[in-house]
Amino acid sequence: MRNRRAALAAIAGAASLALTLSACGQSSEGGSEENKDGAKGGTIGIAMPTKSSERWILDGAHVKKDLESKGYKTRLVYGEDDPDQQVSQVENMITQGVKALIIAAIDNKSMNNVLQQAKDANIPVISYDRLILGSPNVDYYASFDNERVGELQGTYIVEKLGLKDGSKKGPFNIELFAGSNDDNNTRYFFQGAMKVLQPYIDKKQLVVRSKQTALTQVTTLRWDGGQAQKRMDDILTGSYRSERVDAVLSPYDGISIGILSALKSDGYGSKNKPLPVVTGQDAEVASLKSIEAGQQTQTVFKDTRELAKVASNMVDAVLNDKKPEVNDTKTYDNGAKVVPAYLLTPVSVDKSNYQKVVIDSGYHKASDLK
Ligand code: GAL
Repeated sequence: MRNRRAALAAIAGAASLALTLSACGQSSEGGSEENKDGAKGGTIGIAMPTKSSERWILDGAHVKKDLESKGYKTRLVYGEDDPDQQVSQVENMITQGVKALIIAAIDNKSMNNVLQQAKDANIPVISYDRLILGSPNVDYYASFDNERVGELQGTYIVEKLGLKDGSKKGPFNIELFAGSNDDNNTRYFFQGAMKVLQPYIDKKQLVVRSKQTALTQVTTLRWDGGQAQKRMDDILTGSYRSERVDAVLSPYDGISIGILSALKSDGYGSKNKPLPVVTGQDAEVASLKSIEAGQQTQTVFKDTRELAKVASNMVDAVLNDKKPEVNDTKTYDNGAKVVPAYLLTPVSVDKSNYQKVVIDSGYHKASDLK
């Protein structure tokens, strides 16, 4: 994890990001913070979960840029995967009088009290990418079709193994990984994938040798790649001797890289012991490099430039007494209300199309992958 953090710090600092991250300083709460004064529309608070993942660095930069182009000031904070720190960052922004909040929560249930404070101060809240649960004080939700993400991962596996078109019957060995149990997206990703995989598991064309198939057995706290690596190590030691793993369902690129490390340490990646199909999500640079090198097999691209646009348009509409555009008013019940949402479409990416989808679209530069 430490190496990954160092690598990401380097990415954040690299001019190749082409986004202004240089105004970055340290906030009084210890989290990093970016602030820009001088615009007219009031200040919008943006709370992101962590800089230990490249995607959130990009999300923060895109949201900030979009809001500033609409004339708002911004206050961008990162909670470094510590829910308490994130809550106090949001509290501070409320005290400082932000006009609206965009929050990608670390722990989806930790926000209730602070969102009540936002409500009392008449500050609208947009739940960004991850739905905040249990609070009626979430105005809108901007995200991707999260169940579809899981479907894309599951479908990729059954297609790649030849099960879908019937060219192979199996049985193939598969292991399952899911995201953080405090992130509402986790169950949508897992449900989407299992909808596709379960029928093959039932027919014994896919076999989970570890027998760990329940969501509670396969989650990965805070999406930590190191923890996933350790779990894959344990599975390989405990459930595989002469047998081989043919596929691993991974919900997120950081987890995929951890899983691949465990597999490589166990001798996978040679002619006699090829790496299994390994899925992912977020099209992070490390994973695209891995895909190019023939290691990770697939990822799911979610264009965070589009997500940032949706969230900043929502803020702009709400602050101007207009109704934000939504395209889903049914799916995202947070326990206190069904939160009106705008869901974007995720795209499955592998070696055959990443150039077109991720590079030609300008999301990453070809030189970032060198
Ligand atoms: C999820 C998000 C994924 C991935 C993960 C780990 O909430 O939807 O795309 O980024 O967090 O950061």
